[in-house]
This record gives sequence, C-alpha cells and structure tokens, in this order.
Amino acid sequence: MRTAELLERWGAEVELFEHWADRPPEARRRLLADLDSLDPGLLARLRETLSAGRPAPAARRIAPLPAVALEQWRGSREAGQAGEELLAAGRTAFLTVAGGQGTRLGWEGPKGCFPISPIRKAPLFQIFAEKILAARRRYGVPMRWCIMTSPLNHGPTLEFFRERDFFGLPEEEVTLFRQGLLPSLTPEGRLLMSPDGGLARNPTGHGGILQALRDEGLAGRLLEAGAEELFYFQVDNPLVRLPDPHFAGWHRLAGSQLSSKVLAKSHPEERLGVPVLLEGRPGIIEYSDLNPEGMRARAADGGLLFPYGSIAIHLLNTSFAASLALPLPLHLARKRVRCLVPRTGGVEEREAVKFESFIFDAVPLAASPQFLQTSREEEFAPLKNAAGPDSIATCTAGMIEQHSRWLEACGVQVPREGGRPRYRVEISPLFAADPQTLQERLGNTVNKIDEDTLFA
Ligand code: UTP
Repeated sequence: MRTAELLERWGAEVELFEHWADRPPEARRRLLADLDSLDPGLLARLRETLSAGRPAPAARRIAPLPAVALEQWRGSREAGQAGEELLAAGRTAFLTVAGGQGTRLGWEGPKGCFPISPIRKAPLFQIFAEKILAARRRYGVPMRWCIMTSPLNHGPTLEFFRERDFFGLPEEEVTLFRQGLLPSLTPEGRLLMSPDGGLARNPTGHGGILQALRDEGLAGRLLEAGAEELFYFQVDNPLVRLPDPHFAGWHRLAGSQLSSKVLAKSHPEERLGVPVLLEGRPGIIEYSDLNPEGMRARAADGGLLFPYGSIAIHLLNTSFAASLALPLPLHLARKRVRCLVPRTGGVEEREAVKFESFIFDAVPLAASPQFLQTSREEEFAPLKNAAGPDSIATCTAGMIEQHSRWLEACGVQVPREGGRPRYRVEISPLFAADPQTLQERLGNTVNKIDEDTLFA
C-alpha cells in the first residue's frame, strides 16, 4: 500500500505521524509496514473489548467445581495401563507455550533459556528436552515437541536450540512455531509506538496457541502423524511431569477433550486460575475474577469453597484444538510499556492496555472436561519473578526438594536443616525421570548425601 493511502487510512492516529519527516527512513518504513499488516476489523474488536471493560464477576454465575482426587486417578491401574499404551503408540505430542515476554523475571532473552537447575545450571528448555528424550528412549517411538514462540523471541529461541543440537532430540521431531502479535493501546484506545518506531504490540497470550496451531497447519500434521493428544505446559515450570501415563490414560478413559491439573491453593488469595462452574459449565477463571469474599468463602466442611488453583498443565485432544474456529475472548491487562513519543523523539514508559487470550477459556467448549488434583511438591515450582514468591530461589529449591524426596524414597539419607535439604542435589532426567527408575539406577550404591551431588 502506498504511503499516502496509509496516511489517509490511519490519519486519525495523529500522534503516530507527528514529526514524520524528521524520523529515520527505517523507522518510517517499520511503522508503515506494521500499519499495513494491521487488520482494521481486529482493531475495532480491541476497541470494543476496551470500552466494554471486564464483565463484573457478580454478573457471572460462579459455583464450586469438584476435582478428581489424586489417589483416585494416580492410583488407577486402568488409567496407568491405558496411558502406557497411548505413549508407546506415540499418541501424545508435547506442546510448550514459550511466547511470553517474561517481564517479571527481568531476564534478557527467552525465559526457556534461563539457567535454573541447582547444580548444572541447565536451562529450562534443556530440562524439558531431557524429559522428552528419556521418554523417547523408554517408549522407543518418536515424541513430537512443539514450542510456541512469538515474533519477539523466535530468532533467539531457535538459535539456542540449534547451538545445542536440539539437546539430543531428533531435529525433525521438534517444531518451533510463532504466535501472533496484537497492538497495545492507550487507555483511550489509540495506537502506541514501540521504541523501534513500529507499533507497540504484544504476543496474543497463551490462548494464541489455538490460532497458531491452525495457521501453521500444525494441528493437521500432528493428527496425520498419529498424535491424538497434546500435552500442554508452560515454559516456566521445570517440575512438570513429562510424560504422565496416568494423566493420559485417565483423560482418554473419561472421554474428555480437555483435562487439566489443579492443586490445593496454598492460601485463599493465591494467584492461580480457579476451576469453577461458570454459568453451569466447567471452566477456569482468573483469580482476580473471584471477589475477596468468594476467595475466602468456606464450604460446610470448613475447607475453602473454591479450594483449587490451576497449574496450566492440560491435555487437549488434537482434533478438538484444531476444530475451535471462533477466537477465544480477549482479556485486558493494564501495564506500563516503553514507547516512542514522537513529539519529543524520546522513549517513555506509558500506561497501556495489552490484549491477550487465555488457553483456559477453551475449557467450557470441551466435552467432558476433567480437573485432576495433583501435588504441588511433585509438579509445580514456577519461575515468574527474579526474587520473592515463584522466583529463581523458590524454583531451584523446588527442584532440590523433589530430588531429595526421590532419594529418600530410595532409602538414601538426605541431611536436612530446618526441614530443608542441607546440600544441593540434582538428578538429570536422563539419569532417572522418576523415583522407580532412580531406585533401579542407584541399587545400593549410595547411602547418604554428604555434599552437593549431581546424578547425571
Ligand atoms: P505468564 O502469564 O507468566 O507471562 O505466561 P509471561 O509473559 O511469561 O511473563 P510476565 O507476565 O511478562 O512476567 C505463562 C506462560 O504462557 C506463555 C509464557 O511463555 C509462559 O509459558 N505465554 C504467555 C505465551 O506463550 N504467549 C503469550 O502471549 C503469553
């Protein structure tokens, strides 16, 4: 499209064109290219979403939703066996959402490249890759791994995998694919510029994965390859159990299109999505959609009325993911973002509204959704912040704690101080991906941990 036409179409965005002639040619080209690719219908939808605001929680009928108890599904022999068969037949593909900006961690680069393991300092991507490689060796079939990046971090993520030879996985079984971007707006609904002179945009949220799977034709290719289920997890949780035969088997036997792991909240206000009956259908809402009374409400037995939190580990049927044609709803987040201010030519932090869709909005659309309770110690230690809760320290401690417990279960003495392991221990997934394998590998060779110890 010619510059004059673009200027005419977007002329109402006066600020974008201030001091136009003074801008470097590259910055002008970038803005025009971004405007050219911006769908006016999409922008109208964003503005409508902005002016509608968030539906008041009270306007939606929310009721408690039970979850399948841990002992029930993990103790089910049928589920375990069905899951083993599904994995051995290569029915599961792994799906990691890694397109987020990781702003809270404050790490330059994709979050999956963050060195997190206690001793080796293995990055998150390596830990997942090793779990998948261990599963590949165990089941002897291809294990497909699809990683969603965003246009903002795709290049460095791909380079990271290439430099490390895909961590030993066959390259053709690993697919990195990009999600889209959505423009961020001012609170009044105007477009903003990023420091490089283009439009300020943010990745579409983890819900963008459904669109991206379709746009890339990936869902169809996975189905053709026999991958009937997608094991979805986030890039920030190194404790994710990959694979999980009981989870796969329970999901399949229940005839569910989407199953999701939840755990008991550590405190009523814990910032996790909350599984609920929403207008009579099972779903997950943002923690902030429960008002403070709802968060603290008690059931007749004295426990929390809404006791569970979602840890963003889902199994989705590939055909279900591929068939969801309607876009998921958009959620708003008000954040400060760095913007170019044409009037001054400088970069400033400004109030902005980001739009994102969330994968859990697919739950009410699925047949027979299941919520399976799991244990925090075994499956959840997310890396969100540099310090404080869900931080580098707590995530590393979660790994040390899990590996120490596995060693203790094998009869190894692990000295503790104040309840915490005295030494750092790390078990590479390639050494043992679960306590049973650890027992087989160790035999009677180790009795006690008396220094920082790596099993690799
Ligand atoms: P978070 O909600 O923790 O966001 O993402 P974030 O962008 O990683 O971190 P902050 O909020 O900026 O600090 C949860 C998961 O969803 C993925 C993230 O990569 C992470 O695995 N995600 C998030 C995407 O893949 N795309 C997005 O647009 C947003």
